[in-house]
Amino acid sequence: MPRRRKIIIDTDPGIDDAMAILFAAAHPGVELLGLTTVHGNVSVKDATRNALRVCAVGGFEALPVCVGAAQPLVGRARYARHVHGGDGMGDVPAGRWRPPRPDPRSAVEFIAEQVKAAPGRVTLVPIGPLTNIARFLERHPRLAAKVQEVVLMGGAAFYAGNATPVAEANILCDPEAAARVFASKLKVTMVGLDVTDTTTLSAADFDRIARRSPGPGGFLRRAVRCYIDFYRRERGKAGCCMHDVCAVACIVAPKLFELRTGRIRVHLEGFMRGGTVVQPPDRNYDAEGWGRLPPQRYAADADRPALRRLFSKTMAAAG
Ligand code: RIB
Ligand code: CA
Repeated sequence: MPRRRKIIIDTDPGIDDAMAILFAAAHPGVELLGLTTVHGNVSVKDATRNALRVCAVGGFEALPVCVGAAQPLVGRARYARHVHGGDGMGDVPAGRWRPPRPDPRSAVEFIAEQVKAAPGRVTLVPIGPLTNIARFLERHPRLAAKVQEVVLMGGAAFYAGNATPVAEANILCDPEAAARVFASKLKVTMVGLDVTDTTTLSAADFDRIARRSPGPGGFLRRAVRCYIDFYRRERGKAGCCMHDVCAVACIVAPKLFELRTGRIRVHLEGFMRGGTVVQPPDRNYDAEGWGRLPPQRYAADADRPALRRLFSKTMAAAG
């Protein structure tokens, strides 16, 4: 039995974040060390409350939830409540549940502590803006080499953006942080819109999941209603994108992805701000500093039906 992958999910829940967290917690190949929260879909305060709620829904209330950045490195936070609902979790009433206090450690402290405790064995899974990861690099530059890898949901290699024609939402929320992460010594795999924008789940899929997993699955079925409505209304899709689930799936089922290598940069100015530019696999460039950048990996394609089956099958075991 292969060793379980130790992962920390850096998250801005967000409905697809909730899907990814519950999927990771239920998957036998994952040892979920904790969650670190960040501004993005909602404020970091709401993201933290939602992360605590997902832990309660999943039955893993003891999981550390550590609060991270409220603002990007440059500029002000922007939210996506039109996508994820006013509270960021589909406005599903919480009943008598009240959020416990989050873990007293900050997101960066928690990441540093876990990486020091298991050098080369911790994978960071950012599924929101990359502010916390950039701050971790800033404060612990020597720890970057001790991170096993970073598998993030964000960006787009050769695909249109979803926040602007060129920018994916996580990258646009903090382009400076993303640029630093892609240029760093971290071993990064970018799971972007090339794969995630066409990997969707329908309301019927969530009905089936809820029948087999009344707790977590039942919660997701209620939470995704507004998320599915958004994709139907704005994109004419029959289901919602499982963006963040794809990052976790790339760790537990890498054979379902076509991963390529290329240098990755981020536009910081003007109407291209937040756009990711990837060096094509068959080209090499030195000009404009391209030659100085570390090659990273990105998901060029994936077996989408298999990803949907993997999520449904794993969630059925979530109880
Ligand atoms: O572009 C999709 C990404 O932005 C996902 O992580 C979603 O949760 C939002 O954060
Ligand atoms: Ca997210």
